[in-house]
Amino acid sequence: MVGKTSSSRNLVVGALALALFTGFLWAGAIVAGLSDQIADGEGMYVDNCSSCHGKNLGGKSAPSLIGEGFFTSLSSRNIETAKELYNYLKATMPYHRPGALSDQQYLFITCFLLWQNGIDLGGEVSVGDLKGVQLP
Ligand code: HEC
Repeated sequence: MVGKTSSSRNLVVGALALALFTGFLWAGAIVAGLSDQIADGEGMYVDNCSSCHGKNLGGKSAPSLIGEGFFTSLSSRNIETAKELYNYLKATMPYHRPGALSDQQYLFITCFLLWQNGIDLGGEVSVGDLKGVQLP
């Protein structure tokens, strides 16, 4: 009984230490390339977007951001390039507090959304680079 309690306490302490360590790595992460931009974008998406659009992008109270209909829907909003998607996000999302995130956060979330929808930007990108990326 005693042994069980202390081992489950160790488990909790271990999990906390791991969470702190991961948080530390996260905060200190240096953007080395597109994969880091996507990974950071995923965390930002979960924090700022998933409550309405769903953790797996499948939609909840707000439309799905993945799958066949996604680019069709964007196109109906006159969003034809990655830069236009970025501009749209910055101007309108998160729905109740548009523009609340930094330019870098909007950029990384854009990278994450495109990656999830099969678009490989090819390498680390800046906001300016998004102009040349035509959406399907
Ligand atoms: C409070 C809920 C809410 C949050 C949080 C939110 N959205 Fe939205 N989002 C919506 C709603 C509602 C719409 C539909 C708006 C419309 O039709 O004009 C939408 C539409 C969109 C669209 C267009 C989808 C399409 O099919 O045309 C995109 C892209 C999008 N959101 C991305 C994001 C991103 C990225 C974030 C986080 C930075 C975010 N949203 C946060 C509610 C939300």
